[in-house]
Amino acid sequence: MSAVIFHVLTLFPQMVIQGLSPSIIGRAWEKKIISLNAVDIRDYTTDRHRKVDDYPYGGGAGMLMQAQPVYDAHKAVTGGRKVRTIYVTPQGTPFTQAKAQELAQEDEIVFLCGHYEGIDERVLEEIVTDYISIGDYVLTGGELPAMVMIDSIARLIPGVLGNDISSEEESFYNDLLEYPQYSRPEEWHGKRVPEVLLSGNHKKVTQWRLEQARARTAERRPDLYEKYREKQLLIKQLARHKRNNIHLMESLTRGCAEVLYCDRTALAQEHTTAEENPAVSQKHSAERGSAELSVLLYNRCCRTCMAFAADMASGRAIADRIPVDTELIIVSEPFLKELLLQRGYQAPGSYIQMLYPQKVSLPVKHKEIFPLTMEHFPYVCSRYCNDAQCGPGIEEAYIRERIQAGAMYGAFVEGRQVGFMGIHSEGSLGMLFVEEAFRRQGIASSLEAYAVNRMLEKGWTPYGHVSAGNTASLNLQEKLGFYKAEKTFWWLEKTLANST
Ligand code: ADE
Repeated sequence: MSAVIFHVLTLFPQMVIQGLSPSIIGRAWEKKIISLNAVDIRDYTTDRHRKVDDYPYGGGAGMLMQAQPVYDAHKAVTGGRKVRTIYVTPQGTPFTQAKAQELAQEDEIVFLCGHYEGIDERVLEEIVTDYISIGDYVLTGGELPAMVMIDSIARLIPGVLGNDISSEEESFYNDLLEYPQYSRPEEWHGKRVPEVLLSGNHKKVTQWRLEQARARTAERRPDLYEKYREKQLLIKQLARHKRNNIHLMESLTRGCAEVLYCDRTALAQEHTTAEENPAVSQKHSAERGSAELSVLLYNRCCRTCMAFAADMASGRAIADRIPVDTELIIVSEPFLKELLLQRGYQAPGSYIQMLYPQKVSLPVKHKEIFPLTMEHFPYVCSRYCNDAQCGPGIEEAYIRERIQAGAMYGAFVEGRQVGFMGIHSEGSLGMLFVEEAFRRQGIASSLEAYAVNRMLEKGWTPYGHVSAGNTASLNLQEKLGFYKAEKTFWWLEKTLANST
């Protein structure tokens, strides 16, 4: 298993190592889940007095870090490879939880820490991929911001917190601040723990926490609350065609999606009517009938775009907004697919979207089903990776990440593994495999049921994409209570010729 590497180019390597070594991040380093490489830029100066700074041309206060030592330090750690390189600077874009989630998908990141009045612009132009600030204030150097970012990125990497649920339910997850929490004793300074938390009723507890999170966000961060409300409205509108839109809805509710395009006028109309008169809004919704909202989402968890276009004009607007480095796009309209084929994508196959709308868990008849660990990695890879039938394009690194995220489940017979199933990074069920000799014994059905139950426990709506020709899987899911979407789905991949 290879660790995620954080390189920090700095004039104060000890500050970074000492700052991050204690506590959780240090433990993840010891366990080799992450690796920290603090590099002293001064070691790369060619100046015989080890000088790394000089006066700025044109005059002005202070000194600048020179291009040469920074460039050589960067080259030493990357060896000339393309590695995401972040210059931490108050002139960057603000660091957010969304950015942390995005960066947590990288295998290797370089942080460049400035000092004095900054760094010669020419070297920044050559090596920096992202300019990021941790807030609108100025610090004496980039070490503290780099440490802040490493801390918040590393804790999202599977295995670092030891509990994959805990990073999902906290402040900024899905645009809401976290609800208040209480521990023993039940009464302290005359204040009692809210009764609902002692009730043992999980449904009520969840509802109470959501209300508290909403109220707290509205009061303390009205800007975030507005974003949250917009997303909720979008989800509500998408819910009119749930079978077709569940992939979009789930990406939004799980807090992994950014809205890159949305038919704002349709949403604004919905917004105003709902505010003015909820009863009219319901009637209005019914009247709109099948009128659908064009939308383009970017799912950060799997770096995949998902689009729905109501007409050709929105299709074009969507195609123009797809980020250039997008490798996968899920679409469900033939005209949008055609448009993207012309723009250098290919559609290797078509899929049926299946939705399990019930909230009740399914019986798991086969008893030997467990979450997989890295011990089972070779079994899964040898049967799934790059297999033309079950997993074209599925890479080993992806399986590793899924196992570490606790999202792969195995079926065993008397202790020997005979199959597996998983939850993809964008949230759909998939990767079902059962050895030939163990088929038609209810094992596949049990694996599906087990995965459905895990999703329900997390408050997710189970759905999956089944390859259009895979009737066995379609029948199996229908038997379990899944429903088909009306539309066909395509996963568009960037063609090699188009990927630079
Ligand atoms: N370097 C100095 N101040 C900074 C800030 N606010 N964010 C990122 N890097 C910095």
